[in-house]
Amino acid sequence: MKVGFVGLGKLGLPVALAVESKGHKVYGFDIKKEIYEQIKKRKIDYKEKHANDLLKKTNIEIVDIKKLIKLSDIIFVPIQTPHDKKYEGINDIPKTRKDFDYTYLRKGMKMISDELKKIKKKKIVIIISTVLPGSIRKKILPVTNKYTQIGYNPFFIAMGTTIDDFLYPEIILFGSENKFVSQKAQSFYRTLTSSPFFETTIENAELIKVVYNTFISTKIAYINSIAEMCHRLPNTSIDEVSRALSLSTKRIISSSYMKGGMGDGGGCHPRDNIAMSYLAKRHNISFNIFEAIMLQRQKYNHWLADICLKESKGKPILVMGKSFKPETNITTGSPSIYLYNSLKKKRSKIFIWDPEVDKLSLEKFLVLNKLNNKKICYFIGTQHKAFLNSKFNKGSTILDPFRYIKNREGIKIIEIGEGEKIN
Ligand SMILES: NC(=O)c1ccc[n+]([C@@H]2O[C@H](COP(=O)([O-])OP(=O)(O)OC[C@H]3O[C@@H](n4cnc5c(N)ncnc54)[C@H](O)[C@@H]3O)[C@@H](O)[C@H]2O)c1
Repeated sequence: MKVGFVGLGKLGLPVALAVESKGHKVYGFDIKKEIYEQIKKRKIDYKEKHANDLLKKTNIEIVDIKKLIKLSDIIFVPIQTPHDKKYEGINDIPKTRKDFDYTYLRKGMKMISDELKKIKKKKIVIIISTVLPGSIRKKILPVTNKYTQIGYNPFFIAMGTTIDDFLYPEIILFGSENKFVSQKAQSFYRTLTSSPFFETTIENAELIKVVYNTFISTKIAYINSIAEMCHRLPNTSIDEVSRALSLSTKRIISSSYMKGGMGDGGGCHPRDNIAMSYLAKRHNISFNIFEAIMLQRQKYNHWLADICLKESKGKPILVMGKSFKPETNITTGSPSIYLYNSLKKKRSKIFIWDPEVDKLSLEKFLVLNKLNNKKICYFIGTQHKAFLNSKFNKGSTILDPFRYIKNREGIKIIEIGEGEKIN
């Protein structure tokens, strides 16, 4: 099949490469010219499993929008729907909230629809972007026309593993009002994967996408509350609690996201929760669970900051890790940056460093900041594997919410989520 991608960003390009890897001809168009540089250089600047390997052998054809519309049988639209920076999750949640910004998606959909009108041809246009329920009907359909046969197909992917998540999904969620569109999409997906094709209304698909993300945040908020409790209750351990819960697969479903650690992060979850808390407020929902989830994340962050300040006893504090999860350099919505921001409001001598994000080693970072001979209070904000081999300054303290840094001579380790051992 000939497949077009309008938008080759962090979601669009890896998915386009995945589609191509299954033997389809792929056309791409993006308004950002730097994207073409990345494709030309065959290297992207964010970490995405398999992407650079696939880029080395790609034959994706970059064309103008006219050509893309003319040549593609099916067109995917992964255009950004940003939320204001203040809703990213690296600071306390603001009192006033609002919807995502649909300006780019509206412009892109209008451009596609205008081109289809020019050639008077009906084509299937599948939106992937995340939107709040009701947005496609209210904000996107009005800029399209009868030639645009719309489907809404949000993906459940995690940045860093986009290609595997796209090719081996739990479900393919597809919202449409047109049987022909969903049948065509389904037969296209059968060339990629045998995962169940879940067909529903556009509004259901919009809602399912954001509640999937916010449910993950709920699990994380819940287990982190228990971690905090374990930290205060003698002879309890969050790892024992989550091990038991993870074995309870009949009722508790799965062990994913059931490990005490940092708050939820990334480019999707915090912002989706904040947007859903806005929607809940707007519709006067009796209990705003999305706000509660974000407040747990916020209060837990403040609690971690307080422990850090107390345990540092005036020593400089170094937050280890900036990325929102291990082994990536993506920092959007990062709970460790949030912690750093909270600490900075309270005290000076707060530092942050990440082996994946910063282009200098820990040793150089310490020298540069005159910390090389100092006792430091390290806070592990991201569970990078590299920290297992890091050299920590003697006489320092390590606060570890993941409990994976073990026995370092001359260093006090505080495992957050482990209650005091008493008889
Ligand atoms: N990145 C993810 O992991 C992920 C996961 C699930 C859902 N989403 C959703 O997918 C959407 C895209 O996310 P992203 O992370 O890829 O964003 P991004 O900003 O990395 O990419 C969007 C791309 O679309 C391009 N674009 C904007 N207007 C265009 C137009 N008129 N024509 C052509 N290209 C245009 C931009 O230049 C950009 O390169 C968002 O709604 C996001 O919430 C992203």
